[in-house]
Amino acid sequence: MLFGKKKSVAGLDVGSSSIKVVELDGKVNSLNLVSLGFENLPDDTVVDGQIMELNSVSEVIQNVCKDHQIKSNQVVTSVSGHSVIIKNIILPQMSREELEESIDWHAEEHIPYDLSDVSLDYHVTDEDEESTQVLIAACKRERLDNIKQAIQLSGKQPMVIDVDTFALQNCYEVNYQPDESQVVTLLNIGASTMNVNIVKGSNSLFTRDITVGGSQFTDILQRSLGFSFQQAEAVKRGVADAVEDLDEKAIEPLMNNVTEMVAMEIQKTFDFYRATTEDDEIAVEKILISGGGSKLVGLAEDLSSRLELPVEVLDPFRQIKVDTRKFDPDYLSEIMPEMAVAVGLAIRGVELK
Ligand SMILES: Nc1ncnc2c1ncn2[C@@H]1O[C@H](COP(=O)(O)OP(=O)(O)OP(=O)(O)O)[C@@H](O)[C@H]1O
Ligand SMILES: [Mg+2]
Repeated sequence: MLFGKKKSVAGLDVGSSSIKVVELDGKVNSLNLVSLGFENLPDDTVVDGQIMELNSVSEVIQNVCKDHQIKSNQVVTSVSGHSVIIKNIILPQMSREELEESIDWHAEEHIPYDLSDVSLDYHVTDEDEESTQVLIAACKRERLDNIKQAIQLSGKQPMVIDVDTFALQNCYEVNYQPDESQVVTLLNIGASTMNVNIVKGSNSLFTRDITVGGSQFTDILQRSLGFSFQQAEAVKRGVADAVEDLDEKAIEPLMNNVTEMVAMEIQKTFDFYRATTEDDEIAVEKILISGGGSKLVGLAEDLSSRLELPVEVLDPFRQIKVDTRKFDPDYLSEIMPEMAVAVGLAIRGVELK
């Protein structure tokens, strides 16, 4: 564009419990927060990552964008869960043309779906004289069509469809500028999915999406104590007087059961990762947590002691300038964990300018 400033593309995170949207401007090393929106979705509109109620999801997207004056008509969004397959594969050294020609054939054995049903993307992460390391990401087409449809119905255009776990990594890299040797685990605990990404510097070593999240804590309260969804959510969030004559003692063991399962799944991920690497020098320094599910009181401390690793809350606005006259700092710090993926997507949106 010759005249005028080109607008950034907004980051839109369609979660299973809520929609988050973030608009940034500036350059990647000097970003400003322009807009931010967060709105809950009605229950059961997104199930197992699939948008079941296209109209109600698109309506929420439309409202949240209108209420927060999102200027861009284009968005960067993302998918996660079962339909997304991410693998680091090592291939013999080859030219980019040879790789382009043979990638489907190489990727096929790593993807549990028919290749004609998926959209495949890849990226060379490292190479030497003998080998080429390639990160492949595949997603079921029906899942991509599903999210595209919901966004288009809202009047926006999905320009890029990324993966939650890489958006999270983008958010981490820009905000933390890690040393190339630093190994951390990014852990995003959503409502229905937990994204785990073991990152060394700016390289992803291993990722796994686990279908466990904050809603498991709510479910167990509903099932074991007969609460409604709203009551269970309120009790979980520690809202006073959420339920009459609440038996506090009954709650703790139920929450502990779920925390134990969450910790076990993370431990399993570390074990899977160790089984795939020959480099036993790599040790995770700490876990950076995000996602609404990470806000459960005591969860970070509990995971830290169970996994014997420091657990810190990821700050998605660490390097982003925020005008406190426009954005209430208390509100921002309250919703900070939920915004990590959307910020990562918005950063991608700035890069597209
Ligand atoms: N204060 C809190 N205490 C405990 N849990 C909370 C709190 N606030 C939000 N949550 C939980 O966080 C979860 C929502 O988090 P988030 O917005 O990151 O998920 P999502 O992006 O909608 O879902 P997903 O990524 O799994 O599709 C819900 O399970 C909600 O109950
Ligand atoms: Mg999410």
